[in-house]
Amino acid sequence: RKNINIGLFGFGVVGQGLHTVLERTPGLRARIGRIGVKDRAKPRTLPPGLFTFSRHDLLDDPALDVIVELIDDADEAYLIVTEALRRGKAVVTANKKMLAEHLGELIELQRETGTPLLYEAAACASLPVIRNLEEYYDTDLLESVEGIINGSTNYILTAMHRDALSFGQALSQAQALGFAESNPALDVEGLDARNKLVLLLAHAFGLVVAPEQLLTLGIDRLSPLATAYAKEQGYALKLVAEARRLPNGTIAAAVLPTLVKPEHELAHVHDEYNGLITQSSFADRQFFLGRGAGAFPTASAVLSDLSALTYGYRYEYKKLRQQTHLALGAAAAEVE
Ligand code: HSE
Repeated sequence: RKNINIGLFGFGVVGQGLHTVLERTPGLRARIGRIGVKDRAKPRTLPPGLFTFSRHDLLDDPALDVIVELIDDADEAYLIVTEALRRGKAVVTANKKMLAEHLGELIELQRETGTPLLYEAAACASLPVIRNLEEYYDTDLLESVEGIINGSTNYILTAMHRDALSFGQALSQAQALGFAESNPALDVEGLDARNKLVLLLAHAFGLVVAPEQLLTLGIDRLSPLATAYAKEQGYALKLVAEARRLPNGTIAAAVLPTLVKPEHELAHVHDEYNGLITQSSFADRQFFLGRGAGAFPTASAVLSDLSALTYGYRYEYKKLRQQTHLALGAAAAEVE
């Protein structure tokens, strides 16, 4: 195990969370060497010398061996991550939008450069879903993954159902608590869940698809009466992402608001929690539950990736060889 000197991009909710989490984790020999930020005017809690406004100060510094990318802008993140990999710097990112938009290329770039890219924090924050899908179910054939994989919308639906808050009030709370994306349309339109489903599909079924291929409806499309109706009928209204292997071997995948029966595990996933159910041949049904958004839960997954890098861990993407196809998607007719 070696020491890790981190070049950190972004010092927002998750970046600051990571800083605190690292300070409280003496066992992991990792330190933040430099932080790349965008906004020159923002007051910062750490010494100014730690910060830079030029990405090259981090990418060109041979002393920084791992790049942790926690910025908001997916296009800028893509430039940073690809440049870092080309320079042989391992990368940890939580940027699900950037990953979902470029997953195929990023898998290829890791192969070409032999440099690892880890992103446990990008899907379901604190829940170790990527590594489990990648490794545990490597040999036990997965039949389905279904879950609540966006914390903000679950927080909103919970607050509307339980506390009778309006959509707007509930969204403001989710934003104030640091759960929502800086553009909350990504959450409420189901696009954040869709991006995470792209990642789950790759690791669960070896299927790399463009986000637009996935059938997606957000909670913004629900009538104000929908929560009242669900409550009256004794159901929980949830934004559910699902990918299922059909008998012919193709995969059906979608993100949809769903009426969940009270006896179903997902009916009891509240607030910003995420829940993911896997169904596989031998393990049968398994349920992962944990915080799906917020500074420390997300930082915990980044921390775990940093630790994994110290023992040489990388994703193998072995299931990519399975030649699976998408059967039900937004562009189903074109995909096959
Ligand atoms: N906005 C995201 C969510 C953050 O609410 O789930 C965690 O990915």
